[in-house]
Amino acid sequence: MTLAETSRFAFTPDLTICRALNGMWQLSGGHGRIDPARAVAAMFAYHDAGFTTWDLADHYGPAEDLIGVFRRQFAAQHGEERLGEIQAFTKWVPHPGPMTRRVVEDAVAISRRRMRVDRLDLLQFHWWDYADRRYLDALKHLADLRDEGQIRHVALTNFDTERLAMVIEAGIEIVSNQVQYSLIDQRPAAKLAAFCAAQGTTLLTYGTLLGGLLSEAWLGRAEPSRYELQTVSQQKYKNMIDAWGGWALFQELLAALKTIARKHQVGVAEIGARAILDQKAVAGVIIGARLGLAEHLAANSQVFDIALDAEDEAALAPVLAKGRDLMRVIGDCGDEYR
Ligand SMILES: NC(=O)c1ccc[n+]([C@@H]2O[C@H](COP(=O)([O-])OP(=O)(O)OC[C@H]3O[C@@H](n4cnc5c(N)ncnc54)[C@H](OP(=O)(O)O)[C@@H]3O)[C@@H](O)[C@H]2O)c1
Repeated sequence: MTLAETSRFAFTPDLTICRALNGMWQLSGGHGRIDPARAVAAMFAYHDAGFTTWDLADHYGPAEDLIGVFRRQFAAQHGEERLGEIQAFTKWVPHPGPMTRRVVEDAVAISRRRMRVDRLDLLQFHWWDYADRRYLDALKHLADLRDEGQIRHVALTNFDTERLAMVIEAGIEIVSNQVQYSLIDQRPAAKLAAFCAAQGTTLLTYGTLLGGLLSEAWLGRAEPSRYELQTVSQQKYKNMIDAWGGWALFQELLAALKTIARKHQVGVAEIGARAILDQKAVAGVIIGARLGLAEHLAANSQVFDIALDAEDEAALAPVLAKGRDLMRVIGDCGDEYR
């Protein structure tokens, strides 16, 4: 299996990524028991297949440590000089409090140590409360640490358009913002994506496959109770489906997607991922990976072999039009966390 050339994207002048990133939240509990050795073995399979870019966070259980183990084993097998083939994008999600240089530098140092890197490729910053303006202090320190070589690039996650603009106005260079973006949650298309495109900032997306609910495995099935949903992410995105339009409408969407998937000879999930990859400002879609428990490498490689056309768009439009406008129900990107 070789990924098409179009799977690669010049994310920044010094970092080329795979546009389907491997999401590591699935290691943090609530997604089945992860065996560290099997997980690291799986990381080699992802990398070898061309899925070289990882999305993780300080609070995703052992994710940062597993990047460290993977890098150590990778260097032993292939030599230190090839470590640059791996891109590992972490996050810092601090508890609210003073954002002094010491606090920020200590947090970055922990991630660098766990991941066994001198310099973090990307630090995506999350903040819980916009009323507490200390997020600007934290970001200024992160920008200093970037200039000093401890971080390559500073990024955000779950920031809305208004606050992203404030950060940029404060003179802080932001390369990307990670937000929820799927066929049912198209809030980024309302405001954020156009703003990002104008600024040269990109989007990394999560929730694109609705924790796996956006697949034929769920087509034609009765509405699951909370207990029938096997992972925390399925529970989370079932709530999004309910907010968007409910299970019956979701089944209509799956049926429409299945017709398109048949035409392109791929699965429903790959159509869902492709549709978001094609959106304005999107650099990559993050696809959660239950490392060592389940994998969809061959299927997800096909995301880069298909091109959706006007007929596909026209088939989806009437179903999507029946969904609620989540900008009105929830608010701009990230508001679900605040
Ligand atoms: N910034 C934030 O606030 C935030 C929030 C949530 C997530 N994230 C990031 O985004 C990542 C994605 O996680 P998510 O929770 O949003 O999940 P997701 O990517 O929407 O769904 C992942 C699940 O989809 C299934 N899947 C993957 N490829 C498939 C295919 N080709 N066909 C059928 N099913 C397929 C797998 O299910 P099975 O394993 O059951 O086979 C997988 O576990 C996370 O790991 C994390 O890195 C960030």
